Amino acid sequence: MEFFDVIKHRYSYRGDFTSKQLSEEDINKILKAAIAAPISMNIQTTSYVAITDKHIISKLGDIIKGNGIATAPFVIVLLSENLSGFSSMNFEVENYSAACANILLSVTALGYSSVWTDGILRAKEINDAVRHLLKIPKNKTIRAVLPIGEAKDPHRGEDKDTIDDLVVFNHY
Ligand SMILES: Cc1cc2nc3c(=O)[nH]c(=O)nc-3n(C[C@H](O)[C@H](O)[C@H](O)COP(=O)(O)O)c2cc1C
Repeated sequence: MEFFDVIKHRYSYRGDFTSKQLSEEDINKILKAAIAAPISMNIQTTSYVAITDKHIISKLGDIIKGNGIATAPFVIVLLSENLSGFSSMNFEVENYSAACANILLSVTALGYSSVWTDGILRAKEINDAVRHLLKIPKNKTIRAVLPIGEAKDPHRGEDKDTIDDLVVFNHY
């Protein structure tokens, strides 16, 4: 898909997935796209749990209901770590967000769907259960869960605001 078509076609898909598995090649493309994202001061604060094991995905789907997680053939859990470099400035949220955007666009380019699942992880009992299931070390913060696969029920994304709505040229 042409680059700007990918941007136009990406949307948050919250339904179930078909049983189509992702090839290892596609999984690697998606993970490489994540790692290629910009990172502040080139200090890598983002890391990933890439889940292809059906049983683990099913258990994750028991913890995080909805967003098709239980049916996803592939799930990426994004983690971040506070590794402040030359100063006390912490860019881990910005860094993982840039990686997330790269993942969502590469998923779209390959014909799959996903959704940035984040809010539910802010509930302590859910966060603790995900950490326990995936054996995530204490020094890493769980940021987002991205279920990835072929949409069973694809649809159009929401309409977006326009340049006129959001942009001023040169100054307010
Ligand atoms: C930081 C962030 C957190 C989000 N968290 C969630 C979430 O927890 N659950 C969810 O279903 N969608 C979540 N989304 C997806 C947004 O709801 C979605 O991007 C927005 O409604 C625009 O729709 P679109 O992605 O189809 O363009 C999140 C998006 C961002 C950028």
